[in-house]
Amino acid sequence: MSEQKLKNKDLNYYYNIARNLLEDFYDCNGKPGWICTPEKFGVTMGLGGAGQGQTFQANYDTLKQYNLKTSLIKANHDPEMSISIFGKDLTMPVMGASVSGVKLSINDIISEDEFYWGLMKGARDFGSIGMVGNTPACPDDLGVTVAGRNDGWGIPIIKPHSQEELIKLFQLAGKLDVIAVGVDLDGVGSQFWNAHGKPLYRKTEKELEELVDCTEKTVIFKGIMTVNDAVKVLDSGAGACYVSNHGGRPMDCGQGVAEVLPDIAKEISGKIPILADGAVRTGFDVLKVLALGADVALIGRPLAMMSVAGGDEAVKLYYEYVKNDLLISMIMTGCDNLQDVTMDILARSKK
Ligand SMILES: Cc1cc2nc3c(=O)[nH]c(=O)nc-3n(C[C@H](O)[C@H](O)[C@H](O)COP(=O)(O)O)c2cc1C
Repeated sequence: MSEQKLKNKDLNYYYNIARNLLEDFYDCNGKPGWICTPEKFGVTMGLGGAGQGQTFQANYDTLKQYNLKTSLIKANHDPEMSISIFGKDLTMPVMGASVSGVKLSINDIISEDEFYWGLMKGARDFGSIGMVGNTPACPDDLGVTVAGRNDGWGIPIIKPHSQEELIKLFQLAGKLDVIAVGVDLDGVGSQFWNAHGKPLYRKTEKELEELVDCTEKTVIFKGIMTVNDAVKVLDSGAGACYVSNHGGRPMDCGQGVAEVLPDIAKEISGKIPILADGAVRTGFDVLKVLALGADVALIGRPLAMMSVAGGDEAVKLYYEYVKNDLLISMIMTGCDNLQDVTMDILARSKK
């Protein structure tokens, strides 16, 4: 491959590949009017959201309600954005959200195994952590075993199966070299699993505690959207509370993440790491989510597109793009380090 050709392998190059491969699903990424819902009633289509896509859209809309304040007159300083979390040093407070389901949702472009690998290796090569999900089209232990192959740089997020099944998968993760293991509690609303005759369950506080206690690994509970649930996650002894509405995929008419995050942060910030995702696309979005109270912002759909379009190389490129914008946004808002990133750098849009 000539050097010139390699140089041209930029994000546009990979997005063009993704556009061709994903066909009609390419635009299911928050573009108004393209939420991939009208085609098939009941089951979320492609990369879209449930129902009329309102929860999905709420993530964009509620984040858009905040603008960054410019603050320039102070000593020059290269912003410090690295963090240590779960025993790893990360280049910036951004991770890859757990995504799964190439066969059912991402046009069956590559194998689920290759997809997970692209997400995790691309993240690691950049200096971040990629999470992987759990789909009914593959064995339930696939995410756990693929995550275990990345020298301790992967996190499997497992669906809320029966407690017995979950404990088995947690114990498998415990034997493998993974950083942490989690459950997307909101996966209980997934219609894919119902359609495959595989039941998922809500979990009690006692069951959360049991999961935390059954493994030495850090445990993450994902899908938290209220202060009440966040406190229960904290009380369970979990290692992180992951604020998310699953990109609007299980339930329509839900709240946007940026709407609930500040209240959750007020209650549990500093007691347990807060992870948050939902319509984070750029480094500017990352800064807003951090200012609203997250310790780490996570990105779902764009990284999924990169993994199918160009594997780890494309995924890494996306992290680099986010990092550049995050750097600029910290400089422009007068943030020298992550401690400076507070609600004070945000203004509510008057629109
Ligand atoms: C196609 C697709 C599959 C997903 N699969 C999972 C999954 O298996 N487990 C999980 O915890 N979350 C899953 N998610 C949700 C993501 O982890 C994340 O919460 C969401 O995509 C974040 O929003 P964003 O895509 O706007 O960045 C999935 C999302 C999409 C779009």
